[in-house]
Amino acid sequence: MVEKTTVSIIKADIGSLAGHHIVHEDCLDCASKALEKAKKDEVIIDYRVTHCGDDLELIMGHRKGEDSSEIHELAWNTFKEAADVSKRLKLYAAGQDLLKDTFSGNVKGMGPGVAEIEFEERVSEPLVALLADKTAPGAFNLPLFRIFADPFCTAGLIIDPGMHEGFKFEIMDVRENKVITLTTPKENYDLLALIGTTGRYIIRKIYRAIDNLVAASVSTTRLSLIAGKYVGKDDPVALVRAQHGLPAVGEILEAFSFPHLVTGWMRGSHHGPIMPVGLKDAKCTRFDGPPRMVALGFQVNEASLVGPADLFDDVAFDRARSLANEIADYMRRHGPFEPGRLGMEEVEYTGLQKVIQDLKPKFKLLS
Ligand code: F6R
Ligand code: MG
Ligand code: MG
Repeated sequence: MVEKTTVSIIKADIGSLAGHHIVHEDCLDCASKALEKAKKDEVIIDYRVTHCGDDLELIMGHRKGEDSSEIHELAWNTFKEAADVSKRLKLYAAGQDLLKDTFSGNVKGMGPGVAEIEFEERVSEPLVALLADKTAPGAFNLPLFRIFADPFCTAGLIIDPGMHEGFKFEIMDVRENKVITLTTPKENYDLLALIGTTGRYIIRKIYRAIDNLVAASVSTTRLSLIAGKYVGKDDPVALVRAQHGLPAVGEILEAFSFPHLVTGWMRGSHHGPIMPVGLKDAKCTRFDGPPRMVALGFQVNEASLVGPADLFDDVAFDRARSLANEIADYMRRHGPFEPGRLGMEEVEYTGLQKVIQDLKPKFKLLS
């Protein structure tokens, strides 16, 4: 039997430099040392430590499968150590996403975000890791629909017979903790009826319809639902396999040439355009944003990670970035008004609800 490979991205905001701007180098070094040791101890086969804005990202290749407590514990302990570095440096919001004191088998529900994918490696295995900051998991709904279900983005849906039967989308209702699976193109309209509500129905996994080959995985944590109050945005990550009967890397990237509006940005409470950037620009500045997306391309080789290629670090995305800046100008001019600010239901800061609650007794009935 072929030994399966698992790629896991586990990420957390464990504190950052200059407000919620960027992960400090010492935290990156600390995490790299922890994962290097785990590689020597043969817990993982390979790893990359990186960041998107203030999120520390652990990308690991291993043989332990999805939801492995050993891998999750490694990530948890690594975040704890990096959070200690943050605390020593008095970085901002040190340990922010580590919501529990002790590890209990799986980091899901404890604060960190997780996207994992277990598969039998094909002859050649291209994989794209998508890392976002200052937004929420529903930010992937639109681009993933375009990548896997829209022939105006992915020519392969028409041209490559391998994709002709479409894809199965597993959607999570994050409010009720339930999942539903819908198949495109047959159930396109049902799918869109759900995933257009990006704060609630979130694409979690995608499989190729013809053979159930797993094609994509998204982190679906919603920190505010876990903690019951605002504890920082659950900046999401995703893994997408590419090529040869799956969308090409270029088709995956094409979906990000449109900087669509996402929820997040300042205080997790605004709509802003998602800006595709190279790692050098993966830092949030203006109004703590605009929200960013990084794409790292790998070739997976016996669970080793060859790469990455910094895919948005390219002039081909200059126009998307420039459009994102224009949209950012336009959205900011709304100030505290919707749809610049999110609707009451989606505003992450409980502070706004409190202000309104305090005003309630002052309202008088119209006579
Ligand atoms: C959004 C984010 C930031 C903070 C903002 C206020 O994900 O992390 O926009 O919400 O900088 O931060 P506090 O409340 O810590 O002052
Ligand atoms: Mg932060
Ligand atoms: Mg963040």
